[in-house]
Amino acid sequence: MAGLVPLTLSLPLPSSQPPPRMAAFGGGAAAAYSRFFSSASRASPSLAASSPSSSLFSSSSSSNGLRSLPRISHLFLHQRSAEVRVSSGRYSTVSATKSFASDPDQLKSAREDIKQILRTQFCHPILIRLGWHDAGTYNKNIEEWPQRGGANGSLRFEVELKHAANAGLVNALNLIKPIKDKYSSVTYADLFQLASATAVEEAGGPKIPMKYGRVDVSGPEECPEEGRLPDAGPPSPADHLRQVFYRMGLNDKEIVALSGAHTMGRSRPERSGWGKPETKYTKEGPGAPGGQSWTVQWLKFDNSYFKDIKEKRDEDLLVLPTDAVLFEDPSFKVYAEKYAADQEAFFKDYAEAHAKLSNLGVKFDPPEGIVIDDVSS
Ligand code: HEM
Repeated sequence: MAGLVPLTLSLPLPSSQPPPRMAAFGGGAAAAYSRFFSSASRASPSLAASSPSSSLFSSSSSSNGLRSLPRISHLFLHQRSAEVRVSSGRYSTVSATKSFASDPDQLKSAREDIKQILRTQFCHPILIRLGWHDAGTYNKNIEEWPQRGGANGSLRFEVELKHAANAGLVNALNLIKPIKDKYSSVTYADLFQLASATAVEEAGGPKIPMKYGRVDVSGPEECPEEGRLPDAGPPSPADHLRQVFYRMGLNDKEIVALSGAHTMGRSRPERSGWGKPETKYTKEGPGAPGGQSWTVQWLKFDNSYFKDIKEKRDEDLLVLPTDAVLFEDPSFKVYAEKYAADQEAFFKDYAEAHAKLSNLGVKFDPPEGIVIDDVSS
């Protein structure tokens, strides 16, 4: 199976000294604290069998040591394509197949399920926002994972969902909960980014060069502190955007390109405090009616955001202070003008910036990530 590499463990058998124990595979604290998902993601996707000192072997909630071979094979079989071979004698050789953070086949199937909910729920915008808000907490000045934040699935925990910037995103989690339940070998972090990229693509946007294999944080204590995401109405919008996005390691071009995601969706006063309760473009949905969109066709991914915020001619269309500044700041303006005039240029830069955003702060397993698309596609 693609995405799996063989590994070998040599285990002393029998032994009076139980070897280090395996960590639980059920997510432990994650399951206890997440009120939104009944099945927590796997605590650590890597079996780390090549490194006996790794965390899987040093922490434990299981009483089974490696001597307990039936138990091991049981655990491995509940991973993906586990292969366990045991030979008799003083030493036993266990050949297992190492599994990665997410399973490539499950990722592909999950993507089809995401397309299905997009078709029926018209939830593209909120899924794009979900991916962005999980990733956008990244701080390049912090080296340690997961303290540095980023796309690590921490947004599934209530403590982070309650951050003011995340108002309403619980709806996105509820939408993809059945998919997470169905594909236990896809991490939350991957599912959020998969949902976001798929939503862009399905709405007519560019193909995003994504990779997967994001390791999840395992407990709410690993969530970033509140305040890392941008405000829509700061005193000095250009300075604020630079402060926040430069901290993520993103530049002016990427700030402008990514802001173009507001070509999708609506702002709701009861969530963010921004926007009208409804407009002629939103009062009938699709999806839950209401809110104020940036564009007329707010379920279509195109460059109309840049055209509309440049013109500011329609009172029913939203322009946040952080949107308006894209045509006011001299450096931002170069890109905003370009994207208003050239959708192809916008799509190219957006796809690159979105992929970069989705990788911020990520711990990949395998380190090079997992690509689920044909390189040619
Ligand atoms: C540049 C700084 C940004 C600010 C200040 C900002 C602010 C906001 C606000 C206030 C809302 C309305 C939320 C609500 O009331 O439900 C919103 C919605 C949205 N944002 Fe942003 N955002 C920014 C950047 C981004 C980026 C980088 C992306 C994606 C790459 C993005 C994607 C979206 C989407 C798709 C929605 C619509 C959500 C929906 O319809 O449910 N935003 N944003």
